[in-house]
Amino acid sequence: MIQEVRVFAPASVANVAVGYDILGFAIEKPGDEIVARFSDTPGLRIVSITGDNGRLPYEVEKNTAGYAAQRLLAQWGKAELGIELEIHKKMPFGSGLGSSAASAAGAVMAIKSLLGSSATKMQCMRAAVEGEQKADGAFHADNVAPSLLGGFTLIRSNKALDIISLPVPNDLCAAVIYPKVEVLTKSARDILSPQLSLTTCIAQTGNLAAFISSLYTGDFELMARSLQDVWIEPQRASLIPYFKEVQEAAKANHALGCSISGAGPSIFALCRGISQAEKCIEPMRAIFQKAGIPHQTYVSAINQTGATLINKTN
Ligand code: HSE
Repeated sequence: MIQEVRVFAPASVANVAVGYDILGFAIEKPGDEIVARFSDTPGLRIVSITGDNGRLPYEVEKNTAGYAAQRLLAQWGKAELGIELEIHKKMPFGSGLGSSAASAAGAVMAIKSLLGSSATKMQCMRAAVEGEQKADGAFHADNVAPSLLGGFTLIRSNKALDIISLPVPNDLCAAVIYPKVEVLTKSARDILSPQLSLTTCIAQTGNLAAFISSLYTGDFELMARSLQDVWIEPQRASLIPYFKEVQEAAKANHALGCSISGAGPSIFALCRGISQAEKCIEPMRAIFQKAGIPHQTYVSAINQTGATLINKTN
């Protein structure tokens, strides 16, 4: 019988320019690791958190990973099981790369793996989203879904968690830069106008529909024409220093499209092939380098496996 598991859950890019709160994809790195093991003491406990500089709570109910695990165990009528959790943060907080979602997705995958459950990842989704909700109060799965399932995910309804996995064209890669400036998700949401003009709605839905079509057909030219956010990005761009310059540099250097990752401050570009993505990230990086803004870059294929068991001990 399995006694301990270690799970990796990847970072993710939400919104993807054209799908505010409903679209996301997972990247190969960075990501979080969650360890779960059986214990003789009844109940769920968080026994170790690393990589968080002491910022995350050990109380299960207040912790995104802890609460996600607790919700899943309650759903399965196993709340009394003795389980210890370790949370190893291996990605930045507040970066717009779905850090809390990765912890929540990793936690449900760890519980599922430890218990040897045949439940699908989709059946674990609600518990993971409830866990992630502890971070910003909002119930939306645009980071949790790609982190758990991998690939591109489309959310028809966040309330019903009606989630559709979309195909990933061969060769599609991401170049991501995280400038170390603070953008609070709450501020980035509060800044948005509740009004949307008919003209903007028509343009954005056209781009969203065409982008999804391009994922199915692998039509990269259509993808490049579609990856334009005419709704959210114009309202948020000023929150990220040098955003326009970075976007222009990406588009001039092999990017199919470039926009804000989630609520920011990270910026992503989609590219055809890993070498194009590597060429694309350099001029993006040079802008923050010149401005003296510390930053971190990630270039990878689209992660297509989502949260994964990486080790188990019997
Ligand atoms: N879609 C959210 C936003 C961020 O842009 O505010 C990720 O959940």
